Amino acid sequence: MGNASVEELFEPAPEFRSAANLGPAVYEEAARDRLGFWAEQAGRLDWAEPFTEVLDWSNAPFARWFVGGRLNAAYNCVDRHVVAGRGDRVALRFVGEPGDERTLTYRELQDEVCKAANALTALGVGTGDPVAIYLPMIPEAVVAMLACARIGAPHTVVFGGFSADALRSRINDFGAKLVITADGGYRRGAASALKPAVDDALTSCPDVAHVLVVLRTGQDVAWSRGRDVWWHEAVAAASPEHEAPALDSEHPLFVMYTSGTTGKPKGILHTTGGYLTQAAYTFWGVFDHKPDDVYWCTADVGWITGHSYVVYGPLAAGATQVLYEGTPDTPHRGRWWEIIQRHRVSIFYTAPTAIRTCMKWGAEIPAGFDLSSLRVLGTVGESINPEAYRWYRRTIGGDRTPVVDTWWQTETGGHMITPLPGVAAAKPGAAMTPVPGVSADVVDDAGKPVAPGESGYLVLTEPWPAMARTIWKDPDRFVETYWSRWEGYYFAGDGARRDADGDIWLLGRVDDVMNVSGHRLSTTEIESALVAHPAVAEAAVVGASDETTGQAVVAYVILREGADVGGDLTEELRGHVAKEIGPIAKPRRVLLVPELPKTRSGKIMRRLLRDVAENREIGDASTLADASVMDLIRDGMTAAPAED
Ligand code: WTA
Repeated sequence: MGNASVEELFEPAPEFRSAANLGPAVYEEAARDRLGFWAEQAGRLDWAEPFTEVLDWSNAPFARWFVGGRLNAAYNCVDRHVVAGRGDRVALRFVGEPGDERTLTYRELQDEVCKAANALTALGVGTGDPVAIYLPMIPEAVVAMLACARIGAPHTVVFGGFSADALRSRINDFGAKLVITADGGYRRGAASALKPAVDDALTSCPDVAHVLVVLRTGQDVAWSRGRDVWWHEAVAAASPEHEAPALDSEHPLFVMYTSGTTGKPKGILHTTGGYLTQAAYTFWGVFDHKPDDVYWCTADVGWITGHSYVVYGPLAAGATQVLYEGTPDTPHRGRWWEIIQRHRVSIFYTAPTAIRTCMKWGAEIPAGFDLSSLRVLGTVGESINPEAYRWYRRTIGGDRTPVVDTWWQTETGGHMITPLPGVAAAKPGAAMTPVPGVSADVVDDAGKPVAPGESGYLVLTEPWPAMARTIWKDPDRFVETYWSRWEGYYFAGDGARRDADGDIWLLGRVDDVMNVSGHRLSTTEIESALVAHPAVAEAAVVGASDETTGQAVVAYVILREGADVGGDLTEELRGHVAKEIGPIAKPRRVLLVPELPKTRSGKIMRRLLRDVAENREIGDASTLADASVMDLIRDGMTAAPAED
């Protein structure tokens, strides 16, 4: 990844620049008084009681932002827009995969959220009671999250692609009392069931008293009487009047589980005031949101992007947005562009892996649609390779639209490093500069800033409002994972480079976390799933670079003595991982090997396995305990090429 040449700088157009929400002065303004700047941004929200202190960092790294303030996240995302006379503005333009559409104004959204809040209360959910949400991308997902926020019941949304086992472990770790799900959702042209996974998960979730079930597909569902309740019955019976309680700024809003370097996912806790402030501010500033914009983020609400930039950020800003249930190629490969044309989408936010897939399908597909409404494009999930960046800007953005490459994490809650669309002379492939009010650096092993042109580790050097508050039920792991490498710095787990201009380029994870289609997967988690299979003695998993998905999961497996190698064992192992974790974790390839490369201390040298998986010359193997092992792997492996 070289420096961008001069002709690769994309300057904002003069008209864009002069009308932009944020100009260059904001950086200096924020730097002059960082806390004062964030206090001002908190003024974007309605507070029932003002805060008395911006940041309490005395118990670092456990932060408290906007101390003493009280507010309600759902009130801020819905009611206050109605109170301000904007109740008829469209909040959600829902597009179902089969083509059904539904529009919800802010007033209608308010009714739905209030009714759902009353229904949850009637089912015994009180302030502080955890709720798990396992839903497709339908309006009820947004309503469910906001209803929980409204009554102060922290939610955890589990991505609908996760298996029953993954769902069960999250429900139990979180201590959920109630689960909100649907009979199913539409994916790739068919009704895909969700409720059976919940039924399966709940065979050992003792705390769950009720399951609230949204009717979406009408497919048959098993029914546990006394436990299961139809959403449409409970919500229809509830009153649309509900007074939103004023909650503490640090009241838990949600927990989002994300993969780390061990087998157990981490529950990242976000609280109310700071999170909502940063989500609202960055949505407005980084996407240059204006009242007339129609915004669309393709992320599922099961990921952090769906929390901050489908639900909390856009709704706090009073935006009109598209919500789409399905896949980009159903019923045809122009589906996304058709939706943009039909709804006059002006701000579009998606992932590099999706852009590369669309590139592969061909520019003639988007060329068949009118995309002239677009004025800002964004990406998230991994670095966007310059080729995909140019294609996105030219083919989708008509060479007019700024592209913001936003670096952030589940743990950061909101955008952290990104160009501002009306300011930056953007470089394809660079995340550029910290958001105003955010302090980041690239440091070496000793924690010293690297020189221009050098690479190192990305760190965040000052607390920020939407920062994770802890790992649910595991504060020690929070300190150890993020705050113990260098005194006072948050370690993101990403490598980065500063170019000669001081701009930041992200270089990918430096730990055992893979990034497959913008989703974080832990090597250890997949290895644990593999060794749980009776035929497997040992497993090592690596992320091999892949043209479309960024990385692909490749598993090296040593079989148990006497294991039955009959049938299609590698296929069975792929299916096994999909069942244990979910289809996104399914290895692209499973390779049966006689040995694994290990150091003398027994640590698997994944770097060498990556070399093999990427068909490269094998790198420095001098620290191997047994030097001949790589030859054994090369000669002895049974490859099972698989594509799906
Ligand atoms: C990666 C998603 C480069 C990075 C919001 C980070 C990126 C991890 C970018 C977080 C980007 C995300 N450029 N890398 N613009 N955005 N990443 O928690 O490795 O699902 O640590 O949050 O994705 O993934 P997560």
